[in-house]
Amino acid sequence: MTSVTLAPTAPETAAGPETHLVRRYVPAQQVIHWIGVISFFLLLLTGVALLFPPLSFLAKGGTSGVIHRIGAIAFILLPALYLLRMPRKALELVRESFTYGREELAWFKHMPGYFLGSTRNLPPQGRLNAGQKLHHAATFLMFNTVTLSGLIMWFGKGQLGPEGLSAVVIVHDISMLGLSVAMIGHVYFTFLYGALSGMVTGKVSEDAPNGT
Ligand code: HEM
Repeated sequence: MTSVTLAPTAPETAAGPETHLVRRYVPAQQVIHWIGVISFFLLLLTGVALLFPPLSFLAKGGTSGVIHRIGAIAFILLPALYLLRMPRKALELVRESFTYGREELAWFKHMPGYFLGSTRNLPPQGRLNAGQKLHHAATFLMFNTVTLSGLIMWFGKGQLGPEGLSAVVIVHDISMLGLSVAMIGHVYFTFLYGALSGMVTGKVSEDAPNGT
């Protein structure tokens, strides 16, 4: 981690000592994250328009379907880009997200307080706290199911019978619903703990509770 010190010569103030910032995300990670967010919202909005008859006017002329596919290409290519550009960081993210020990179980016991904004008595965590691990693991799993079912619908619709097609549609829709619930929690904790600047500047305060 690169350590960055803000105002190195500034005297200690009433507000506290000078703020030490450490780099948490490299620019490529930030760009990939934010393009991922844009493509996710494109998929969600156009997906809802394709799904609900009252919103079908938004899908007129197949525009929603085309935008949905463009969003899908970006959404699928991003993790591939992450893996190609930063294989170590990408594999570490997946490995950490699926590794739970005693500290994580202890952290989950404090989840109700954490949910309401209290970090008191939280057990020490690694780079990711247990809640982040859970979010990232669920996102990873549902990313795979939504992608696979989407690709099957895109390229293999003709080969599926009506029952096969409805099974694939159910997997696709449930995965997107799950991703949306995960995203709502993710955004809630981002703002509850004022963590947005971490993914905007790539840096976080050295003594900040680790993440959202
Ligand atoms: C407006 C929506 C979003 C906001 C404001 C947001 C904000 C953030 C922030 C602040 C972080 C850094 C957390 C920290 O380290 O303390 C982060 C990380 C992350 N977010 Fe989001 N996020 C959004 C949407 C999404 C969506 C839709 C997904 C996935 C479908 C997602 C997946 C992730 C992942 C996997 C990380 C960890 C990245 C890494 O370690 O490389 N985010 N997000």
